[in-house]
Amino acid sequence: MKVQPLKLGEVLVKNNVFLAPMAGYTDYSIRKLQLNMGIGLAFTELVSAKGLYYGAEGSKELLYSKGNEKQTAVQIFGSDPYFMRWACESEYLKPFDVVDINMGCPVPKVFRNGEGSALLTDAKKAESIVKECVKSGKVITVKIRTGQVQGDDIATEYALMAENSGAKLITIHGRVREVYYSGEPDFKAIEKAKKSVKIPVIANGGIFSEEDADKMMEKTGADGVMLARGAIADPFLSAKLTDTKTDISLKNYIIEHLTLMAERLGDIKTAMEFKKFVPYYFKGMVGFKDVKLKIYQATNIKQIIEIIEQYL
Ligand SMILES: Cc1cc2nc3c(=O)[nH]c(=O)nc-3n(C[C@H](O)[C@H](O)[C@H](O)COP(=O)(O)O)c2cc1C
Repeated sequence: MKVQPLKLGEVLVKNNVFLAPMAGYTDYSIRKLQLNMGIGLAFTELVSAKGLYYGAEGSKELLYSKGNEKQTAVQIFGSDPYFMRWACESEYLKPFDVVDINMGCPVPKVFRNGEGSALLTDAKKAESIVKECVKSGKVITVKIRTGQVQGDDIATEYALMAENSGAKLITIHGRVREVYYSGEPDFKAIEKAKKSVKIPVIANGGIFSEEDADKMMEKTGADGVMLARGAIADPFLSAKLTDTKTDISLKNYIIEHLTLMAERLGDIKTAMEFKKFVPYYFKGMVGFKDVKLKIYQATNIKQIIEIIEQYL
C-alpha cells in the first residue's frame, strides 16, 4: 500500500496506517509499542464521556499516554451531545489534539443506551454529537460500521454527515453490527463513501497481512488503513506496512509489553491481563498448549518472562 502523511485539519499525521481502538487491548503499552513500529496514529479504546464527567477512575485511566499524546487519538462514546462536548473540552483531554467518536460498538449494553452503533440508527442524534464536539475546537474524527444487519449500507450517508458537521476524518469498519467482527468487509460500501467525501476515509476490517492491506486500499480507494486484531496477532505488521526498521525480536517485544503494562497495572494485575494476549502471540507455535497452560497458571510477570524465555 502507498504510505503517506495525512492532514486532519491542522494536525499532520505522519502516515496513514492507524492502530484501532480495541477495548481491553490498545492501552498505553500496546499503543507505545505499535507507535514504535511505525503506526501514524494510535487510538485509545472507547472511553465513556459520562464516565469522565463523573470523574470515574476507570475512564480516566484509559487516557494514560505518557508522552505519546500527540500521536494518540482519544475515542469517546456516549449518546448525549452535552456530555460528549464536555469530555472534549475537559482537562482530561487537554493533552490530545484528536478525539474520535465511537459509532460502531455492537455490545448490547452500549447499544441499549443509544451509544456506539445505536447512533447509526439515529442520524440526527449522531449529527448533533459531531457538531457539538467540533465546537470544542478539537480535531474530531468518527468511526462507524456499515450498518446494523447484512445488506445495510449507511456509510456514505454518515460520511457526508460527518464531513458536513465538521469532522476531519472518518474510519469505516466495513461490517454491520450483527456480524460483530466476522466475515469479509464490505469493500463496496467503503469505496462508495470514499468517493462521496473530501475528508480522508480510513478503511478497517480484516487486515491481517500486507496483502490484506493492499487489497483493502485497491478495492476501496481509501486514504489509509486501520489495523485492529492484525496488529496484535502480528506485532510487526505495522512495521512492514510503513517500512519501519526495527531490530526488536518477538520475545523482546512481548517482554517490553509486559514491562509497560506493569508500569500502569502493577505485577499481579499485569499477569492477569496478559492472559488474553496469549492466543494472539503464541497460537500456531510448537508447544502452544503448554505455554498457554503455564502462562495461565502464572501469578506474576517474573514467572511469565521465564516461560517466554524458555519457549521463544
Ligand atoms: C476485543 C475488541 C475490542 C474492540 N474495541 C473497540 C473500541 O473500543 N472502539 C471501537 O471503535 N472499536 C473497537 N473494536 C473494533 C475494532 O476497532 C475494529 O473495528 C474491528 O476489530 C475490525 O477490525 P479487524 O477485523 O482488523 O480486527 C474492538 C474489536 C475487538 C475485537
